[in-house]
Amino acid sequence: MRVIIEPNYEALSKWAATYVANRIIESNPTPEKPFVLGCPTGSSPLGLYKELIRMYEEGKLSFQNVVTFNMDEYVKLPEDHPESYHSFMWKNFFSHIDIKPENVHILNGNAPDLIAECEHYERMIAEAGGIDLFMGGIGPDGHLAFNEPGSSLSSRTRIKTLTTDTIHANSRFFDGDLSLVPKQALTVGIGTVMDAKEVLIVVNGHNKARALQHVIDGEVSHKWTASMLQMHPHAIVVCDEAACDELTVGTYKYYLDKERGNL
Ligand code: GLP
Repeated sequence: MRVIIEPNYEALSKWAATYVANRIIESNPTPEKPFVLGCPTGSSPLGLYKELIRMYEEGKLSFQNVVTFNMDEYVKLPEDHPESYHSFMWKNFFSHIDIKPENVHILNGNAPDLIAECEHYERMIAEAGGIDLFMGGIGPDGHLAFNEPGSSLSSRTRIKTLTTDTIHANSRFFDGDLSLVPKQALTVGIGTVMDAKEVLIVVNGHNKARALQHVIDGEVSHKWTASMLQMHPHAIVVCDEAACDELTVGTYKYYLDKERGNL
């Protein structure tokens, strides 16, 4: 696992966006062989999306030959609801870049057959040649996508019931009203994320410090599902100083020294 420690949110967002942009550019994507990018929602990746948009506006990056697969979507929240992940993605990213709408894939939480929808999503990812780079964030309980504590670490795309912790955390997007937060979501599995060629997660703020400690310094455990990234051959965690508050001094110093070339 590679761990990048940046002083603050702005710097971590820039680092992550530069990494993603370079990956897309280096792969020389074409319509026949597009770059396949996994996309998260949440407040953590907002800075990363802003930076990618800026690079596109400056003519440094194009998404013409990029295919995206989103991590998750609420069940039975209308697609045009302001808090649906469809709305989030178009508002914060897709409508500002040159991506082709037909190249965007987001799970349909209103599909008549949710199990078939999840199976179809996995098939589409496989048909696209797999995900080149899955970007992500983590929840305060260490969840990745909506793989809540206790999720199988080899899970595939499926329906998940949200934990009380997540319902509380996400109620901030629903005027703080717990009853308005959907109780279920469709989500890619940990196994789906692990199949990506690379995974990059952004983690910022003190409220993620405990989760980050479990992901980096803890054991691989279904109680902190993002800890499975320890088993990924190409996982990168980009975090800010505040998120490092619970890491051991040794771990913190090692990763800083390693990236500075002092080791
Ligand atoms: C939701 C999403 C996750 C996201 C998490 C953290 O539960 N399903 O993909 O990582 O929230 O969100 P935030 O970045 O807003 O803290």
